[in-house]
Amino acid sequence: MHSDVESILFTEEQIAEAIKTIGKRITDDHTGKSPVIIGILKGSFVFMSDLVRSIELDCELDFMVAKSYGNAAVSSGTVNVLKDIDTDIAGKDVIIVEDILDTARTLAAVKEILSARKPASIQICTLLDKVTTKKVSVVRADYKCFDVGDEFVVGYGLDYAERYRNLRYIGILKREIYEH
Ligand code: PRP
Repeated sequence: MHSDVESILFTEEQIAEAIKTIGKRITDDHTGKSPVIIGILKGSFVFMSDLVRSIELDCELDFMVAKSYGNAAVSSGTVNVLKDIDTDIAGKDVIIVEDILDTARTLAAVKEILSARKPASIQICTLLDKVTTKKVSVVRADYKCFDVGDEFVVGYGLDYAERYRNLRYIGILKREIYEH
């Protein structure tokens, strides 16, 4: 375990098991369809990579860069789309993939932008859903792997100041790392 991590919340094995389950559900729910799966970077890149390999459908993949945090441990309150998708999603079934749904600000903004392009449907798949009173939108996940509390979680794509994304597990960051 990394020395900056206080404890492991979800092991590599638990994550793999949860993704297998979600992948099967998405596959079953989309039989005969060819969804466009859109990962919101950077946080979703590890999850996206494992998730799409557990989905047995003919699908297209794309990525969008949306940022809401900066390098602080609290949300900045703004969402910037720094890179858009290239895929034409009109009339298609879209699944947005996120690493974490916190206030839901990012997903609400992304969903609004993508909805304007008239897809047949939009669903949301998140690795983690933060159980918090700070949700600013009614946007919720259609598929999720785990609920998490208000701890600062890192690993498996999630960062603090761009670090820890490459940890194979999801862990709780020691308070002293982000409170100084
Ligand atoms: C994180 C995360 C989500 C968002 C969730 O992104 O990846 O996109 O915050 O928070 P919200 O529900 O309160 O909007 P971040 O802006 O940190 O960028 P990153 O994906 O590059 O880490």
